[in-house]
Amino acid sequence: MDHFTIRDGVMHAEDVSLELLANEVGTPVYVYSTATIERHYNVFAAAVSGLTDGNPLVAFAVKANPNLSVLATLARLGAGADVVSGGELARALAAGVPPERIVFSGVGKQLPELRAGVEAGILQFNIESEAEILMLGAVAETLGKTVEVAIRINPAVDPRTHGKISTGGADAKFGIPWDRVPQAFALAASQSHLRPVGLAAHIGSQLTDLGPVEDTIRKLGALATDLEAAGHAIRRIDCGGGLGVPYRADQPAPPSPAHYAAMVARATAGWRWRLMFEPGRMIVGNAGVLVSTVILTKEGASRHFVVVDAAMNDLLRPSLYNAWHDIRALRPREDRCTATVVGPICETGDTFAEDRDIETVGAGERIAFMTAGAYGATMASTYNSRPLVPEVMVSGGKWAIVSQRNQPEAMLALDARAPWL
Ligand code: LLP
Repeated sequence: MDHFTIRDGVMHAEDVSLELLANEVGTPVYVYSTATIERHYNVFAAAVSGLTDGNPLVAFAVKANPNLSVLATLARLGAGADVVSGGELARALAAGVPPERIVFSGVGKQLPELRAGVEAGILQFNIESEAEILMLGAVAETLGKTVEVAIRINPAVDPRTHGKISTGGADAKFGIPWDRVPQAFALAASQSHLRPVGLAAHIGSQLTDLGPVEDTIRKLGALATDLEAAGHAIRRIDCGGGLGVPYRADQPAPPSPAHYAAMVARATAGWRWRLMFEPGRMIVGNAGVLVSTVILTKEGASRHFVVVDAAMNDLLRPSLYNAWHDIRALRPREDRCTATVVGPICETGDTFAEDRDIETVGAGERIAFMTAGAYGATMASTYNSRPLVPEVMVSGGKWAIVSQRNQPEAMLALDARAPWL
């Protein structure tokens, strides 16, 4: 469910015409719908609200969309934040997420990042290696603060999603192999300034099959029970994120938040520990579109190309993961064609759709790449010296530019001539 609908023959984000927006701001541009973000967060938070102790923490995975206005929208609703870098931590704090709702994940946290998290007084660090236990233990001791940590386990499950976004397999770089968790927990407990209070897992993204998640949660429960038997006090279990979103109307929709919550309820029956969740994509995926203008169309030897002003640097997912984003004309029409939709970048990989049935669009007309709110703008680059794509936030009939398109001169200003040139 989203708030991108056709009104008076034009796609709107809530009450704002995307055509009008594109005229004002230029294209390519990401547009986010506040109402969709709010709805998705509220649906997820309500679905998990009654689980275990009735006080779950829903920590939005900032990496999915770190825009300050997106984070501030979620912070206002009471969301926490799952951060994976000092930069994301700074954004979450700037957006008003209280430190006691922030969890710090990531396999390679560096000393300044650990320090920043400890100084901010965040809720929990999810630790991914024995080396990190020692690093964080030393940082906490130096700063004279006691820090609560969870051990991220590697559950050795196959999440059955795209290989590049699977994180739960035994050979993945993530987490501590689950059979070594008791020793890791004891190591953490032996650090004077660490207090190990929980376990965490995250097995992958765009999950459409809840079976591996259920197996993982049950594994977390079994380990937590063993740890308690060994005398540790367990307080929290972090189930990670990963719930998929529908990208294509012609494929079965992934499980809903209600289905997900029902699965978690089954897997956690009888638990007293507080639950944590780190959803990213399912909160913001359908809340954003990338609007682009057709530059020209051309006929190849056997293909009809639609060349648009967005490119792989603006929306990397199709190139990187062969991901599908629905492509719709801002002004819907009956006539359709088979088109290969490409950007202007000098790589064949700069392709959004191959031989796809889309509405017939010509030069100057506008299209929207749907479901681009997660892992869209945040994965953009300036490749081919293209300006960073701007972002606009809509709320009802209001809109605002919430991330600027940087200009070529500003990009150039970051470079310098070496003194000998
Ligand atoms: N927690 C941790 C520790 C994560 O690594 C991730 C995502 C999440 C939560 C949120 O997962 P979500 O609910 O969004 O599935 N760039 C890729 C997705 C990478 C996901 C990385 N980790 C894409 O565009 O599909």
